Amino acid sequence: MLYRLARTALFQLDPETAHELALKAMASLGPATALLGAGADRGEERTVMGIRFPNPVGLAAGMDKNAEYLDPLAALGFGHLEVGTVTPRPQPGNPKPRLFRLVEHEAIINRMGFNNVGVEKLLRNVEKASFRGVLGINIGKNFDTPLERAADDYLACLDAVYERATYVAVNISSPNTKNLRDLQSKERLDELLAAIMARRDALAARAGAVKPLAVKIAPDLDDEQLAAIADLALKHRIDGLIATNTTIGRKGVEAHRHAAEAGGLSGRPVFAVSTEVLRKLSRLLGGRVPLIGVGGILTGADARAKAEAGASLVQLYTGFIYRGPDLIAEARRALKAA
Ligand code: FNR
Repeated sequence: MLYRLARTALFQLDPETAHELALKAMASLGPATALLGAGADRGEERTVMGIRFPNPVGLAAGMDKNAEYLDPLAALGFGHLEVGTVTPRPQPGNPKPRLFRLVEHEAIINRMGFNNVGVEKLLRNVEKASFRGVLGINIGKNFDTPLERAADDYLACLDAVYERATYVAVNISSPNTKNLRDLQSKERLDELLAAIMARRDALAARAGAVKPLAVKIAPDLDDEQLAAIADLALKHRIDGLIATNTTIGRKGVEAHRHAAEAGGLSGRPVFAVSTEVLRKLSRLLGGRVPLIGVGGILTGADARAKAEAGASLVQLYTGFIYRGPDLIAEARRALKAA
């Protein structure tokens, strides 16, 4: 109810201003944000990728790109927070406007382009927070790093975040960094995963702790591409797959005035295609690689459908914008009953 009022005001503003304002307002509430969140319940705990999650509902990457809002976000009741995507060097992202609401469709189109403060500053922000929960750090490449050198950027980020992250998410699926999604092709992914996993093992030996590595994929992949990704996930012993990122498709929103904006579509219209990718991966992998379901969760029933399609955990982004903190509690309840 409270959020519905706030939303009416926020939706009067341009989307990017509203985003910043909402997060800042939440931070200013301090510990009082916990009143919005649901209390912990042992029955909700899940162990996935060797990590104990207090509940299966997490925050998807891109909302807190620079890890500036860990404490207030955690207080809302998320079981984990995935921050980033972060790149080795800071970068401004694409020119504004780059974020569009499609309210009638409970959807967003974004072409942010990995605007972020860079990995060193992100880590300083993490240090400032008192958050000690499950922290995923989602890593990417700078826009001006050629694709042939992409591995260098992922390795630099992996080195930097290894100690502090609970798990690391490798983002090869944003539509807003030129050619990034080509890293999902069989040959490139094989090479990239070999490099990243070798580095992960070296870091694990040095640190005496193995940090799980999850790969985040796009919803716009055909069966052959999905089969190749499943094979490579097994070959390289990837700890988890996050399915999915935003779609470049516009199915269901073709007539909207923002439909022709370049970028990734998220929210309700991505649910079907994203859940289908999850289901196919689940069939291909048969439980050998844990899956994290994200894309179009707007209700508790949607979260449950992700679990039924094979997800061990779920993440929220656009649904959280449209529904507010209530959605976290609703998704947690739906998954408790699952
Ligand atoms: C995103 N998403 C995203 N994903 C990622 O891996 N790194 C990122 O930096 C971002 N940034 C980002 C910005 C904005 C404005 C949006 C809307 C989304 C994708 C997000 O994490 C999620 O995978 C998709 O949005 C699908 O889930 P929802 O939004 O339909 O719940």
